[in-house]
Amino acid sequence: MAYLNFSDKTVVVVGGTSGINRGIAEAFAAHGARVAVASRKQDKVDDTVAALHKLGAQAMGFVADVRDLEAVERGLTQVHESYGEFDVLVSGAAGNFPSLASDLSSNGFRAVMEIDLLGTFHVMSASYSRLRKPGASIINISAPQAFIPSKAQIHVSAAKAGVDMITRNLALEWGRDGIRVNSVVPGPIDGTEGMARLAPTPEIRAMTAKGVPLGRMGTPDDVANVCLFLASDLASYVTGAVLPVDGGWTQNACGGMSEFLGGMMERAKRNG
Ligand code: NAP
Ligand code: COA
Repeated sequence: MAYLNFSDKTVVVVGGTSGINRGIAEAFAAHGARVAVASRKQDKVDDTVAALHKLGAQAMGFVADVRDLEAVERGLTQVHESYGEFDVLVSGAAGNFPSLASDLSSNGFRAVMEIDLLGTFHVMSASYSRLRKPGASIINISAPQAFIPSKAQIHVSAAKAGVDMITRNLALEWGRDGIRVNSVVPGPIDGTEGMARLAPTPEIRAMTAKGVPLGRMGTPDDVANVCLFLASDLASYVTGAVLPVDGGWTQNACGGMSEFLGGMMERAKRNG
């Protein structure tokens, strides 16, 4: 479809070297974009850039921890010098592990806040001067925990709720620059690191799928397709939206995920 042709567009996906975000990077590459990805590990960056080249795309990558503003700025400068202004910016670096609040250390809470929330701010602020104005589309990758409370996820809930407020505040501040800012909220996406950590057993995976009104877990493509839409002119009047792509899971309070996770962590604690 002509609207989903990203030829001659520059797309940057921070945290784009595995799972859902890599699926997003590959989808933009398959739709003609030049794509840059970033994450902490050189081998993951190299592997992803090679996969993007295989799709026929111009692609580059850089290593940065989103907690390190200078590293993010250095990497984005390289992308800007090579590929010009950013048409699409996806910010999805995140960390997660289940921990009951009473067992979570200050540093554990801080780690997730700094990756997900401060990291998102770093990516936004370091990109601002390099975004196409008017025309850029920013997509922040959020999570259901941002608005559905869950046992063993206090750190992630706090951080991702903040990410969605970054989205909504920047939609206000940057709207007059012609920059759109939206959040995408993936549901349970099969085969990802996030699900390996939150639904580690076949039983919990089956219960998770059962709790999705559409009756299945999602795929990275389900999320990527919505990102293509949000980045396209089809969504030219959409900004400040927090859009679940979750088969209806959040309408169903994430199918009782909170109780599975809480129970799993309580049992782990009892068993030492
Ligand atoms: P994933 O494969 O672990 O992806 C995380 C990405 O971020 C990787 O590329 C990772 O690469 C990078 N990253 C992590 N910490 C970083 C840091 N400090 N600085 C820079 N990059 C960093 O996880 P996923 O499950 O696909 O999740 C992707 C996104 O979707 C996350 O934002 C997550 O919150 C969201 N989400 C996932 C699900 C799900 O079902 N999986 C559901 C809802 C929301 P390096 O290790 O090389 O840094
Ligand atoms: N339960 C409780 N606390 C944990 C934990 C767990 N499973 N894993 C880490 N922590 C705590 C650590 O103990 C440490 O706190 P402490 O100093 O008080 O002991 C703190 O979190 C930071 O841990 P560290 O390993 O130094 O952090 P890091 O910056 O190297 O890694 C993480 C960040 C912990 C989020 C790591 O899991 C990660 O890199 N995740 C990225 C991939 C991911 O989570 N993908 C899913 C995305 S949804």
